[in-house]
Amino acid sequence: MSLRLRVPGLSRKAATVLLAGALAAGIAAPAASAAESSWWPLYKNPYLPVQLRVGDLMDRMSLDDKIGQMIQSERGAVTPQQAAELRLGSILSGGGSAPTPNTPESWANMYDGYQRAATATPLGIPIIYGVDAVHGHNNVYGATVFPHNVGLGAAHDPRMVERIGAATAKEVAATGLDWNFAPCLCVARDDRWGRTYESFGELPGDASANTTVINGLQGRSLNQRTSVLATAKHYVGDGGTTGGDDQGNTEISEQELRRVHLPPFREAVRRGAGSVMISYSSWNGAKMHAHRYLITDVLKKELRFSGIVVSDWEGVDKIDGQQGFTPEEVRQSVTAGIDLFMVPQNAATFIKYLRAAVDSGQVPMSRIDDANRRILTKKFELGLFERPYTDRSLLPSVGSTEHRALAREAVGKSQVLLKNDGVLPLKKSGRIFVAGKNADDMGNQAGGWTISWQGASGPTIPGTTILEGIRQVGGASAKVDYDREADGIDGGYDAAVVVVGEKPYAEMFGDRPDSLALDAEDQATLAKVKASGVPFVVVTVSGRQLDITKELPGWNALVAAWLPGSEGAGVADVLFGDRKPTGKLTFTWAADFGQHPINAGDGKKALFPYGFGLTYPRR
Ligand code: GLC
Repeated sequence: MSLRLRVPGLSRKAATVLLAGALAAGIAAPAASAAESSWWPLYKNPYLPVQLRVGDLMDRMSLDDKIGQMIQSERGAVTPQQAAELRLGSILSGGGSAPTPNTPESWANMYDGYQRAATATPLGIPIIYGVDAVHGHNNVYGATVFPHNVGLGAAHDPRMVERIGAATAKEVAATGLDWNFAPCLCVARDDRWGRTYESFGELPGDASANTTVINGLQGRSLNQRTSVLATAKHYVGDGGTTGGDDQGNTEISEQELRRVHLPPFREAVRRGAGSVMISYSSWNGAKMHAHRYLITDVLKKELRFSGIVVSDWEGVDKIDGQQGFTPEEVRQSVTAGIDLFMVPQNAATFIKYLRAAVDSGQVPMSRIDDANRRILTKKFELGLFERPYTDRSLLPSVGSTEHRALAREAVGKSQVLLKNDGVLPLKKSGRIFVAGKNADDMGNQAGGWTISWQGASGPTIPGTTILEGIRQVGGASAKVDYDREADGIDGGYDAAVVVVGEKPYAEMFGDRPDSLALDAEDQATLAKVKASGVPFVVVTVSGRQLDITKELPGWNALVAAWLPGSEGAGVADVLFGDRKPTGKLTFTWAADFGQHPINAGDGKKALFPYGFGLTYPRR
């Protein structure tokens, strides 16, 4: 047997010694009995050090094998057979891209189909399958949908967020998938940005504190069957664009970039985040997807990040601002240091361009090897070579009672009480009128990235609406009536709850450069309730602060509920005082729309300052 072996980071001699030791320890079989041992070639031996397995495997890979490993395509664009023919390293589900029927079992069947095709190739390298499970396994019908990060930040409970990561990982793993494009560690500095709700808060410490979710997602070690690879995203400065323009330009000094936007990634790397996703945005006019200094020099060398750097969806295409990707954009992004490319469509063309760039010497083989080493290391660490298929014993965890209880706890802890003249907590003995477009709408309370990319109004997922929660928690003694527009309200009620706010959106579709005011429907509902003379609580269901300064004096109480997800009863727990409100703002609440961007320490007079939140008086 030839000991012709290269192990990254090890000299040939050291690798040989390592291998000899492995042979002596009986954890590697000599070629003579290769036919008998499933642990031959070496890289298939699970008892060998990952470095050694990576080196052996890379030695056996062709350039086409290596280039294929660096490409991730959308499930809707390639069948398992096509993915295997292209030697694709990864598949993803974009927001809302689900098998039919959309059940956990059919997700597992889909995943296993890609793995069967991948492991049937000569080298049998399994794929790694990515998905945005950004507030639970939100693409899967029946999964637990947790509050979005804007609420989790207000809860100030990183340990709970770690538990949410673990629960999410278990539900993702139950469907076979192994890579979660979360957490977003964006530091949203301008709340007009459509992705503000994906941010834990306006200060770097808000995201850094909640990088605990990475430990929840990845477990004590990646090869646990309930662990998935986490993704710190979007590197770097996505939340700092001028005007909150999604995919816009972050025009700040390097000092401010390092002070505000880099710390959460430093913390994520310290916690062992397996991947980092590059931001669509630019820094002082330079596209992040072509930014060699920030990707290679800062992230890989200075922060010593050894995991996978992944592009965003068609992120390479946007480097030149034109539709589609070009050979030059491929060259730029690979040499900048991106390892794996999210190329939802046209993977074959990307492969052709990258192959040409290597053949012409524009992209050095060392760059291809660095990317492959990173990708294969994570696949070995995840145990994908040993356990490529779904562990279906995990399926009952999807949407489990235990996970929904955790989500309800998170909803309760994320509620921020901003005003209360004594109408709260509600009495369980009274007559309560509930109104508002977001009172009984699962889709609106879940927000974007729920079943579909943009999310949608209506009964999109199973769970408990805020109205259903009020009925549940209020119990038999509370008489609860509901009308979305508040028709039928009269002075006979003890209190009213009006649930207003935003409808679902994601990314650029949520940018609101001109106004954060309540919409006409909410204004009309509120006017009707106010005219009744019944004391009322306003609950805002929204991805961010809203411009309510003018209306606030006429309200008896105000609770920011953010985007609570499937367990609306968590809001009712606080409204009735079963749980005291403890949430604190992680976003400075503007007194006037013209103040945006407004952040702690900028000297602007806010309506509610960063860190503000009331609770109930001791009874
Ligand atoms: C999106 C988002 C990113 C997501 C990716 C895959 O455009 O920017 O957060 O992970 O595409 O869905």
